[in-house]
Amino acid sequence: MLEIVTLGEDILRRRAEPVKVFDGALKLLVDDMFDTLSHERGIGLAAPQVGVSLRLFIVHIEGGEKGVFINPEIVETSMEQVPYEEGCLSIPGVWHDVVRPRGITMQAQDITGKPFTVKAEGTFARVLQHEYDHLNGTLFIDRLGEQDREKVLEAYQRKQKRQKRAR
Ligand code: CO
Repeated sequence: MLEIVTLGEDILRRRAEPVKVFDGALKLLVDDMFDTLSHERGIGLAAPQVGVSLRLFIVHIEGGEKGVFINPEIVETSMEQVPYEEGCLSIPGVWHDVVRPRGITMQAQDITGKPFTVKAEGTFARVLQHEYDHLNGTLFIDRLGEQDREKVLEAYQRKQKRQKRAR
């Protein structure tokens, strides 16, 4: 199991480096990330969230899409923007509606380095966009208005304090 990096750590704010070597170590990292994601009951996890500054993330939607996206690029976005509730394993315990394009097309490489393209809508499109942001040092709270962001951060800090007391 890998440890999840949380808000305040520099690595979450860095632009991650492209993956250049598709080897056994990469495969191991991805396997560990899938174990960690299912343990944390999340639907997406980006490498910087486990302390690895590489351009890759994984998605596992219960009853839906599962996959690894390496060196991803968003090549098309729908005109229509929609709100959708987001949370993040790196900012645990808080959620907020974020407005983003309803659908996207993403190009990426698989675990062997082979390129592929996916068209996504709904939850899948949302997870892809959220995880892609992590590779550029962007968090969902950055996409909120100032007031909403402060509200979410205050709630997060309250929860963190409460958890520390409980420990
Ligand atoms: Co996240």
